[in-house]
Amino acid sequence: LANVEVDVSNLEVGKSMTVKWRGKPVFVRRRTEDEIADANNVNMSELRDPQTDADRVRSGPEWLVLLGVCTHLGCVPIPNAGDYGGWFCPCHGSHYDISGRIRKGPAPYNMEVPPYTFMEEGKLLVG
Ligand code: FES
Repeated sequence: LANVEVDVSNLEVGKSMTVKWRGKPVFVRRRTEDEIADANNVNMSELRDPQTDADRVRSGPEWLVLLGVCTHLGCVPIPNAGDYGGWFCPCHGSHYDISGRIRKGPAPYNMEVPPYTFMEEGKLLVG
């Protein structure tokens, strides 16, 4: 399937869900105000793959959409884990922040942001 339509209207603030798109996991997280503040309160010089949070959230800061694939060797990171409040890849220990940016461990890049758009409130189209 080139596109996948996802009903995110029941996703609570502070929770994540995983959907499949082109055979890969896509993480959708509805971020809290605190998480958004954390994602923005980062010194760019500390980042291995420098990107502002604003560059990674196309439909406003509440919704973070990521390709759930570790940029090291492709394992699926675990949500709500790691040292930076985001995801942790158990394969070789990469830590991602709440913007999906790599912060520690062997992965070279941030988790990728796939193409997506909101068709209407609560209806996400990935692809
Ligand atoms: Fe994620 Fe190696 S595949 S750290």
